[in-house]
Amino acid sequence: MRIPKETELSKNRAPNRPIVAPKFHHTTFTTLRLDDMVAWYCNVAGLTPVYHGESAAWLTNDEANHRIAFLSPPGLKNPVDKPHTIGLHHTAFEYADFDAWMYNYVRLRDSGIVPFLTLDHGMTISLYYADPEGNGVEIQVDTFGDWSKSKEWMSGSLEFAEDQLGAHFDPDKLVEAWQAGLSFEEIHRRTRAGEYAPAVIPTDIFLPEVY
Ligand SMILES: [Fe+2]
Repeated sequence: MRIPKETELSKNRAPNRPIVAPKFHHTTFTTLRLDDMVAWYCNVAGLTPVYHGESAAWLTNDEANHRIAFLSPPGLKNPVDKPHTIGLHHTAFEYADFDAWMYNYVRLRDSGIVPFLTLDHGMTISLYYADPEGNGVEIQVDTFGDWSKSKEWMSGSLEFAEDQLGAHFDPDKLVEAWQAGLSFEEIHRRTRAGEYAPAVIPTDIFLPEVY
């Protein structure tokens, strides 16, 4: 088959033709603590290693061959002031339903793993954890249960335009409300209204210092 020249192609293309976008696939971290990182992501976000070698590992928790990978070549150094350095703030995983999200919070809390930041952003309720090397991991649940609706709310609502951070909350107060039988919608409404605010409201969103 003859491959058309760029000039020939250009003539036939609308100037505002849609870009055919590749799908987002995975994030790769360098690490000094390969085995700890693998174990932590397996525990917190239900990943399993597809391949776990001596100096690298590839993990997934869905049909993709990997979603999170770790490389641990010789010569890596600890970061300096990572929380206040530009770059990746967090990766995120989403539960499809509120009960599963709550169960995961309780399971992790009972094993001593708690979030450093908790926010009801409006379109998601989000728990932010720090992995063993201080990278953020958000575990969220979509409050609309529908990406098209949550996307529309982000782009079109006055509420999000006025406040993109949302309401801080004490996750244990959500557990209490959940165990008392309140619906997800009601818990979300009350969280947004500040009824489950933590005793101390964080003043920033910086990652915790690990190194
Ligand atoms: Fe996020």
